[in-house]
Amino acid sequence: MHAPHDPPTAPHETSTAPRSSQLRTGWRAKILARVTASDEIEMREFLDADKRKLLTPLHGTILEIGPGTGPNFAYYAAGAHVIGLEPNAFVQPTLVKKAKAFAGTFELRTGSVEAIPLPAASVDAVVSTMVLCSVPDAGRALAEIRRVLKPGGKFAFIEHVLAPPGGLRLLQYVAAPAWHVCGDGCCPVRRTYEDIDAAGFTRVDYRFTRYGFTVPVSSTCIVGSATK
Ligand SMILES: C[S@@+](CC[C@H](N)C(=O)[O-])C[C@H]1O[C@@H](n2cnc3c(N)ncnc32)[C@H](O)[C@@H]1O
Repeated sequence: MHAPHDPPTAPHETSTAPRSSQLRTGWRAKILARVTASDEIEMREFLDADKRKLLTPLHGTILEIGPGTGPNFAYYAAGAHVIGLEPNAFVQPTLVKKAKAFAGTFELRTGSVEAIPLPAASVDAVVSTMVLCSVPDAGRALAEIRRVLKPGGKFAFIEHVLAPPGGLRLLQYVAAPAWHVCGDGCCPVRRTYEDIDAAGFTRVDYRFTRYGFTVPVSSTCIVGSATK
């Protein structure tokens, strides 16, 4: 395991030891790990083009918050140094396994985006796909993301959000209690776009889209980036 500013490991080398006691090991974390793993193929099908555009141009040191089972390794440029900040104990083994096939370096950290264990202005990019919906204090998470980004660094995101008024929004509210349990704290009615708009980035660009997921509760998303 690296200290924050240790030199990166050689390509394919992977650090695995947790650094903090913030590991999530309860039954809700276990359910989330199962759901995330089983969703991976469908998510890839729908998100592939957007992830390619958003993630492949990123370079240098990339902090991915909540990388889950590691679907985003497929999009990172060879040679990038990826730090995965992941609190769920049940996804970490799959994440580490996937990292071995990545043509860059990877470092696993255990912890929360609400208290990122990295110095200020230390990463070139931060990535979040379907994570801010589960973070209790999104404002604090975004302040932390901005803190660790270098000036001019990018926060790239795909996040599911509250649907426009209508049937899908109603479904989101009805599903919210069960969703919260099965998604280990995931909230389907978040207005994450408002949090990002208010986070103090110098430039924010995103668009709303609706993916064709089988279970539509999380299908309304924002796709874009914010620059420090
Ligand atoms: C729905 S999964 C998405 C996983 C992955 N990003 C993807 O696109 O498939 C949400 C992930 O966010 C992680 N997560 C939840 N709360 C977090 C927090 N406070 N800080 C960092 N990661 C968190 C979960 O452990 C889980 O891996």
